[in-house]
Amino acid sequence: MKLLAISGSLRKGSLNTHLVQAAIQALPNGVTADLVSIADIPVYNEDLDGEDKPDAVVRLKEAVAAADALLIATPEYNYALPGGLKNTLDWLSRPAFKSVLAHKPAAIMSASKGPTGGARAQGQLKLVLAAVLAEAYPAPEFIVPQAQQSFTEDGVLTDDNVKTRLQRFVTDYIAWVEARFSR
Ligand code: FNR
Repeated sequence: MKLLAISGSLRKGSLNTHLVQAAIQALPNGVTADLVSIADIPVYNEDLDGEDKPDAVVRLKEAVAAADALLIATPEYNYALPGGLKNTLDWLSRPAFKSVLAHKPAAIMSASKGPTGGARAQGQLKLVLAAVLAEAYPAPEFIVPQAQQSFTEDGVLTDDNVKTRLQRFVTDYIAWVEARFSR
């Protein structure tokens, strides 16, 4: 099985990028994941969404289409998912209901410096995934509150509690994808 991993944060030292990288390291044997950047995706403009789409969009669409499932880590910006991630999903969402996201399994997680761990952003992200007919993994929210305490500066996950939860989350997600979507 091959996953595509996306972090909704572009910054160096992103806790969400650290989290999704830790999730990739925790994947069971035989499951691989590529982490893609959304930094080059332009602001959505329907005029550009014709035959000749921006290169970064074409590349990302191909990567999503080729993946068996998605792994998305989102920050929470002002109680919502970041504009850059929403914008990326908007590009991926066309043609409506027949896009590369339709029926694609997706697990979501969030890391935040605050006490609610990005849970509100996850609620919104789930709504967007529902709109594009993606299949959000229906597990309780995987959140890492006060995540700056769980990772070293260079992104090593040092929090044993989060490590244990993350291992269980990705293992259960892969089992769910296999049970529900294996052909
Ligand atoms: C934040 N942050 C934040 N945290 C939170 O739990 N709820 C929120 O609504 C917000 N709002 C918010 C807005 C903006 C514009 C920024 C820059 C930050 C703090 C956020 O959790 C923190 O900066 C994380 O470190 C962002 O994720 P990355 O970049 O580390 O992955």
